[in-house]
Amino acid sequence: MKQVLVLGGSGFVGGHVCEKLVRAGYRVSVATRKSVHARCVMHLPGLTVLECNIHDEAALARAMTGMDAVINLVAILHGSPAAFVHVHQDLPGKIARACAAKGVLHLVHISALGVNSEQPQAAPSNYLRSKAAGEALLVDTLGWGKGGIGSCGLTVLRPSVIFGADDKFLNVFARLQALFPVMPLACADARFQPLWVEDVASAVLASLKQGLEQAPAVRVYELAGPQVYTLRQLVQFAARSSGINQGRGRPVIGLPLWMGRIQAFMLGLMPGEPVMSQDNLDSMQLDNVAAGGLPGLEALGIKASSLQAIGPQYLFAEPAAQGLLGLRNRHR
Ligand SMILES: NC(=O)c1ccc[n+]([C@@H]2O[C@H](COP(=O)([O-])OP(=O)(O)OC[C@H]3O[C@@H](n4cnc5c(N)ncnc54)[C@H](OP(=O)(O)O)[C@@H]3O)[C@@H](O)[C@H]2O)c1
Repeated sequence: MKQVLVLGGSGFVGGHVCEKLVRAGYRVSVATRKSVHARCVMHLPGLTVLECNIHDEAALARAMTGMDAVINLVAILHGSPAAFVHVHQDLPGKIARACAAKGVLHLVHISALGVNSEQPQAAPSNYLRSKAAGEALLVDTLGWGKGGIGSCGLTVLRPSVIFGADDKFLNVFARLQALFPVMPLACADARFQPLWVEDVASAVLASLKQGLEQAPAVRVYELAGPQVYTLRQLVQFAARSSGINQGRGRPVIGLPLWMGRIQAFMLGLMPGEPVMSQDNLDSMQLDNVAAGGLPGLEALGIKASSLQAIGPQYLFAEPAAQGLLGLRNRHR
């Protein structure tokens, strides 16, 4: 039985990945900062939860002992520039060193659409810059840079925004519109190609299988859903599918960027993770749409599910009427 260490296995995507791995017969360990964070996966048969500080190289290497593969889903959406570098750049470097030292055969790393690892500094936000630098560091540290050949294979998956019953994206838009009569929205014309969390988890599983069965190599995929939407359309879709205002949703008022920045500043003063940060606005200066030059879900044998088919099933079932409590619950 192949052993897999999942970093970030307690998160939104991580839960779905762990479930698929267990079902496929892998022996799964999840490393977490606090065991309680992993309560959504600890019931899965045979899954082990390891409480450890993965930023400590010795602890990380110990967690990788005996592992055939590692999956890295650790990321943050908000934080200082230093925090982005710490989590998206320094950590992948440590993961790559530990993989090489422990003879791990394959690493699957979840990045993000819009990342250009050849020009990290060209990205508009701390999130995208640090993700790009992290990808580049992984390739170099694993020995694949400048035509080299590493012993540990690497698959980088770059998804667009991800939806699913437990997402913090359409659910949040729905809850906000349940509370407020209008929806002021910056970057309303930013474009996304949302994909279903189950398709992302299937892509992780397929990449892992490929990585363990084939000769080590570096493979990069862009993961995107079948249709492109503007942010405005997604916000409207979330409200309509949740039945808000008798299915009509709320008026969405597009804000110029400078007003969006003031809104983000105010939201940043509220406790918990902000719904929208300055860095999120910066990220949206770039369309979150597959460029098409890289293989996608189909190349991994997956047919992308549509938002129109999946979204209403959970948005209507879990009413936005949870209001403020629902918004607060999304923060641990
Ligand atoms: N969700 C999306 O729409 C989306 C879109 C594009 C790309 N992605 C990428 O997909 C991956 C998974 O995303 P997700 O939505 O599942 O994220 P998530 O729910 O926020 O989970 C991320 C996990 O990372 C761990 N983590 C967070 N901060 C950490 C820190 N400072 N040090 C160590 N561990 C930390 C947490 O694990 P513990 O609390 O257990 O330690 C958490 O479970 C990420 O790489 C993300 O960038 C997501």
